[in-house]
Amino acid sequence: MLNGKNDSKIYKIINKEKLDIVSKSIDESHGLPNECYISEEYTKIERKKLFEDKWVAIGVASSLPNIGDAKPFDLLNLPILIIRDKDKKIKVFHNVCSHRGYKLVNKSGNIKNVIRCPYHSWSYAFNGELVATPHIGGMNKHDTPKFDKSTSGLKEIRSFVWLDLIMVNINNNEVSFEEYIKPLSDRWEKLWTKEDRELIKHSNDYGYFKLNAKCNWKFAIENYCESYHLPWVHPGLNAYSKIEDHYHIQGLPNRFAGQGTNVYNPRLKGKEKFPLFPNWPKNKEHVAEYVALFPNVMLGIHKDHYYAYWLEPVSYNFTLEHMEIYYVGDHAANSKKFKPLRKQNLKLWEDIQKEDVNIIQGMQDGRNSPIYNGGNFSPIMDNPTHHFHKWVATNIV
Ligand code: FES
Ligand SMILES: [Fe+2]
Repeated sequence: MLNGKNDSKIYKIINKEKLDIVSKSIDESHGLPNECYISEEYTKIERKKLFEDKWVAIGVASSLPNIGDAKPFDLLNLPILIIRDKDKKIKVFHNVCSHRGYKLVNKSGNIKNVIRCPYHSWSYAFNGELVATPHIGGMNKHDTPKFDKSTSGLKEIRSFVWLDLIMVNINNNEVSFEEYIKPLSDRWEKLWTKEDRELIKHSNDYGYFKLNAKCNWKFAIENYCESYHLPWVHPGLNAYSKIEDHYHIQGLPNRFAGQGTNVYNPRLKGKEKFPLFPNWPKNKEHVAEYVALFPNVMLGIHKDHYYAYWLEPVSYNFTLEHMEIYYVGDHAANSKKFKPLRKQNLKLWEDIQKEDVNIIQGMQDGRNSPIYNGGNFSPIMDNPTHHFHKWVATNIV
């Protein structure tokens, strides 16, 4: 007899055994099957199950500093609109006109007063309310008793701003974001207190870069979870941060995984040093943690800076990677004094991430091999990556 799960749509695309084996213990499991990386049909299910049903990052609030700043964002073709409203709050809507379905906002910019649809000029306030419907009742009749404006506003998407990241739960079915993030937030409290987190400031000059990855978004997360590749992919980094200096991180409930290091010690040139988070423990100054919050955010915490590296999946084989870098307070993030340091730090991360992009792009091609069964993990080195694969294999059903 079929129950709801056994009947899942996904089994029309992927043989059930191939997904079940992923969740076995690491020495008996295989990684996710090829379909998860090369199938458009699969990606449609993935958008719903791993993105719309979860808390997903779609941008950062500091990139929309002013009232009326608006940005369209497409999540695997699902049109979304982010706007800063009159109360200076971030609001997220489905980016589609309630009239005939025109995609309302197509480029980033500042909107004055109302969000106006270019097609028939229906206009929405920043809170989503439909406020103008020109000639809806015939020439010069902008209202009609036959049409109730109040039911045709923009459809809001549940959102939460956390450490500047704009997180959304499109299908409004996940636990609250506070509850969702609690296991990670609690873990970090010993290192990076909530008080210290309030101090982060996005750098305006060397605080952002974007990379194109010609591959599936999951490769970026998997790669981020492990330090096994360090000696070969990042020889420069490995000179001071070796495999043996790293430890695994696997969150429970399963929502995040990654790695930590005990030897964080950036070699930036110059006499200046970035200010430190004031409550970061003195005996942990060389600890840094790199955690992937599933599905699409990679976080890095250090005594002197924080970053959020978030993924924009465009299609099953193309991903944009956005790096946002933050420092301790505005002086560190934006003053002239620390500019040379910020420049070096950005370059350091950009070089490392480019090395990663180069390697993960090679994995896309490997997934076209019909004999590849998802792979055999190292039972010692690949645990956080396996953790992520299990997250996908269970949540996709
Ligand atoms: S489709 Fe937007 S006003 Fe007609
Ligand atoms: Fe790497």
